[in-house]
Amino acid sequence: MSVRILFVCLGNICRSPAAEGVFRRLAPEMMCDSAGTAGWHVGNPPYAPMQQAARKRGVDLSALRARQFSVADFDAFDLIIAMDDSNRADIEAERPDGNSTPVVLFTDFAPHSGMDHVPDPYYTRDFGGCLDLIQTAAEGLKGAV
Ligand code: 4NP
Repeated sequence: MSVRILFVCLGNICRSPAAEGVFRRLAPEMMCDSAGTAGWHVGNPPYAPMQQAARKRGVDLSALRARQFSVADFDAFDLIIAMDDSNRADIEAERPDGNSTPVVLFTDFAPHSGMDHVPDPYYTRDFGGCLDLIQTAAEGLKGAV
């Protein structure tokens, strides 16, 4: 079965586009996208330092553009993956009655990382560490779907 996957963070310029790019490379046959719960950066490419860190690992994020999570995404995707609990709560707050699309944390797929969220490199400035965790979780996700 083909699973449609949506990665969600806050701004859709750091963590979720990186997750989309890394996962797309691992599983090019799968349909995936990313979105932000906030609309601040709609239409913008991923944050330049994140693009640069991803490019160093052979992942090109330059064609991606930020969009805001919308209630239609509950039907358009089979699995919604949040980067942290705040993203998850914001997504859950929009869930329509009767919808049962799973909303899970990306770190659920990286159980040995000891992490319960993907720290936001927009604030931590640790873009490489963020990509390491994303790579581990993306590999776990690929094995799970
Ligand atoms: P992201 O990081 O949620 O991983 O895309 C952020 C990017 C921008 C902002 C916050 C988080 N911002 O406040 O503009």
